[in-house]
Amino acid sequence: MNGTPIWPIEASRYAGRVDFLFGSLLLISVLTMGLVVFLLALFATKYRHSSKAIRDGSTIKTWRFEVAWTAVTLLVFVGLAVWGADLYLRLYNPPSDALQIFVVGKQWMWKAQHPGGQAEINELHVPAGQDIRLVLASQDVIHSFYVPALRIKQDVVPGRYETMWFRADRPGRYHLFCAEYCGTDHAHMGGWVTVMNPREYADWLRQQGGQQTLAMQGQTLFRRYGCSGCHNPGGTVRAPQLEGVFGSPVPLSDGSVVIADDRYVRDSILNPKGQVAAGYAPVMPTFAGQVSEDDLAKLVAYIESIGPTKAGGGR
Ligand code: CUA
Repeated sequence: MNGTPIWPIEASRYAGRVDFLFGSLLLISVLTMGLVVFLLALFATKYRHSSKAIRDGSTIKTWRFEVAWTAVTLLVFVGLAVWGADLYLRLYNPPSDALQIFVVGKQWMWKAQHPGGQAEINELHVPAGQDIRLVLASQDVIHSFYVPALRIKQDVVPGRYETMWFRADRPGRYHLFCAEYCGTDHAHMGGWVTVMNPREYADWLRQQGGQQTLAMQGQTLFRRYGCSGCHNPGGTVRAPQLEGVFGSPVPLSDGSVVIADDRYVRDSILNPKGQVAAGYAPVMPTFAGQVSEDDLAKLVAYIESIGPTKAGGGR
């Protein structure tokens, strides 16, 4: 289908499956509509005013027919729902070893931050054949990260992280759009996703200069915002130590347990009284309005970097 000009190139691992589902939905919809239109035309002709068709009404009710068509349509549409849900879950559950990139949408640009600290605007460079996990945030209003060639689209709502992942198989340059009307320059909010061979990608990373990694920048911010005053050993206030916390379960004061993922860390910075760790007083001040999404990404990367070391290599 790639030959047709209206059909975007399939550049990601799941693009074919998304297209297959889409095509099947389209086909079933067209067949259903065709049947309805056909019956409409048939009966309109058969029982037209001048026809001699019998109109006294049939009194025979065939249950077999009734049950059969209800069951078949039910099965078809439940099947479609299961198929769609399965694909959705695959698309939204990133593999744990995926390369993580933070993307912030703001009026009117997309800013990407790589783990090595490389940042780019309206461009996203990724290696081919590797799973990429995107952590998306918005600095202001609702945007939507949309790359047709990769068949990924995700609304980015201010106030929370959205995550998604993809694996691009085919090196190339693909359009990136904002697919949610977000103000005057919405139409110009976008750019390019460049999928490179892993070696070219490594070269590209090097060319971006020797800045600090995202986690190191986060460590600097951790001190600048005063987090270290309480969260480091010997702090003035009794606060949870954050080493080894990332990715593990945290018991909360209300008795529930959460996994300390990027969303939890972000929420804890902006709304610390929302989920207080068990055994600690809710004394942490909020940092809402003081820390930009860019800086939040760095802080999250830092907390993640001091988390439990993963087997088989760190970040
Ligand atoms: Cu951002 Cu439209």
